[in-house]
Amino acid sequence: MRNSTRSEVDPFIVMDVMEVARKAEEAGRRIIHMEVGQPSTGAPVAAQQALVQALQSDALGYTVALGIPALRERIARMYGEWYNVDLDPGRVVVTSGSSGAFLLAFTALFDSGDRVGIGAPGYPSYRQILHALGLTPVDIETAAENRLQPVPSDLSGLDLAGLMVASPANPTGTMLNRDAMAALIGATQEAGAAFISDEIYHGIEYEAKAVTALELTNDAYVINSFSKYFSMTGWRVGWMVVPEDHVRVVERLAQNMFICAPHASQVAALAAMDCEEELQANLAVYARNRQLMLEGLPKAGFSNIAPPDGAFYVYADVSELTQDSRAFAAEILEKAGVAVTPGLDFDPVRGATTLRFSYARSTADIEEGLSRLRSFMENR
Ligand SMILES: Cc1ncc(COP(=O)(O)O)c(C=O)c1O
Repeated sequence: MRNSTRSEVDPFIVMDVMEVARKAEEAGRRIIHMEVGQPSTGAPVAAQQALVQALQSDALGYTVALGIPALRERIARMYGEWYNVDLDPGRVVVTSGSSGAFLLAFTALFDSGDRVGIGAPGYPSYRQILHALGLTPVDIETAAENRLQPVPSDLSGLDLAGLMVASPANPTGTMLNRDAMAALIGATQEAGAAFISDEIYHGIEYEAKAVTALELTNDAYVINSFSKYFSMTGWRVGWMVVPEDHVRVVERLAQNMFICAPHASQVAALAAMDCEEELQANLAVYARNRQLMLEGLPKAGFSNIAPPDGAFYVYADVSELTQDSRAFAAEILEKAGVAVTPGLDFDPVRGATTLRFSYARSTADIEEGLSRLRSFMENR
């Protein structure tokens, strides 16, 4: 049977790495996972308990499309607590992870063929989802001196209908500070384009608090998720904040595309928002791991790295070691038993000479991984 041309999207290479790692584990090998972009911790305990209770008293049928009102209110309150932003809960849309939010945002904002700017390196699914929706992803090659984030001058001549940024970003962990974010919002709005801010790694910051676009403007789409800071990847629940006059547009799309985000996950997510102590303990592990990575990677021979401001990744320039990051990652997995992600997932061009190391796992795993990387590089 025929396929559409827009369904021709690239695979997520990290998934292929995970599959090779899984097979090695099946054959009895112990693999250290520095490829996965997810916490090894589960949902906070109180979130699990809230769901157990709900299961006993509630049929957990569909919710309204925009999400359980109590969850929308709690998310709005969080903007007050975290950023001192007074947010109307009516502007919060609960989604099936940030991935569901991308579908809603791109569909609500753009028409077929519209050009949407994304930073390279960047999260690969932006490009693939845009393509699958018949939109045109426009890679913006970011510069090391701008900490691999787009800057206003990058936008000139691109004829964009939208710009998508992430801060902290995947794979680099770099953030846009208030001035940089304000300048990008200004340039995007001046170009008549829509500004979309992926804030999924907020809460996982090390030196300074991340800035939300909502501190600077109401005229943007802000996307977030329970996957990372709240440690709930598989629950598929996230949210989006949209301008007031976009709520109804997004609601109609959400009703038709998803009906609602998973009800059970919304119940758990609401409880997770009050689990500060447990979540801060997870954060302390990432902070320790980050320190170990920043010391250990250069000792192993991966010295071309920039300290990440947030998230749980280190992006390394390995151009002095290889011109084929995919083969290099395969060699590291085979010989050292450490799974890492080739940069090609994040940057189709320059990613041939970069690797992403994730430090989301336990500190013991990070120590073991770094020690294996060191002996691998010594014997290479
Ligand atoms: C920058 C970024 N945005 C979005 C996502 C997707 O997350 P979700 O689980 O909320 O769909 C990821 C996942 O790794 C990510 O790194």
